[in-house]
Amino acid sequence: MKRSEINNLMRSAQEFLVAHQFYLPPFAAWTPAHWQALGPEASELIESQLGWDITDFGSDDFDKCGLLLFTLRNGRSTSLPHFQGKTYAEKVMIIEVAQVTPLHFHWQKTEDIINRGGGNLVVQLYHATPDDELAAEEITFNMDGITRQVSAGGTVILTPGESITLPPRLYHAFWGEGRRVLVGEVFKLNDDRTDNRFHQPIGRFPKIVEDEPPLHLLTVDYSNFFQPKSKP
Ligand SMILES: [Fe+2]
Repeated sequence: MKRSEINNLMRSAQEFLVAHQFYLPPFAAWTPAHWQALGPEASELIESQLGWDITDFGSDDFDKCGLLLFTLRNGRSTSLPHFQGKTYAEKVMIIEVAQVTPLHFHWQKTEDIINRGGGNLVVQLYHATPDDELAAEEITFNMDGITRQVSAGGTVILTPGESITLPPRLYHAFWGEGRRVLVGEVFKLNDDRTDNRFHQPIGRFPKIVEDEPPLHLLTVDYSNFFQPKSKP
């Protein structure tokens, strides 16, 4: 993806979120220079990979196969064994009409995907076989406290306000329908660098062509801009 495209997507996302009265935390608006001046007090942002996450999954066609996310909070894996500290996490996503996030499952995290407003969100489901292929068996799942079933590869439509719970090893793909959708995600903490299994071999993060300076940093940029200096 070109950096200019990423910058434009951030501007558009900020307008859309404000129009939906959803406000991002202050670090969403920090400049690269602000990040470079930070000290160790900001280390949680880096270690938990909080912030902008925009990807075309290596497709080079963001409109058809891409996703804009912002990670608002996420714990560290050291919290899990003892269930202490921040074992939870939250993201917000913007999903365009017919813009597909390809089939994937998570090795560890259970996630609730929530339609927070706009159009409908279409979610396609498959169980994974023991060798991580698509299973033919029916899926039993939970939507807002109600147990439901869908056939393998079937789709579930979330209208605004509805949510679905996706456990580990349940393949899911999703896209918007009708209008751009504001989507929330509440989940058990995870590390997106290792917790995704895509059915097709694609990239989780984009290759970036630096055709202009970054407006705000993506989480994948942090290591290039953040060298925590110890404060005197
Ligand atoms: Fe997912």
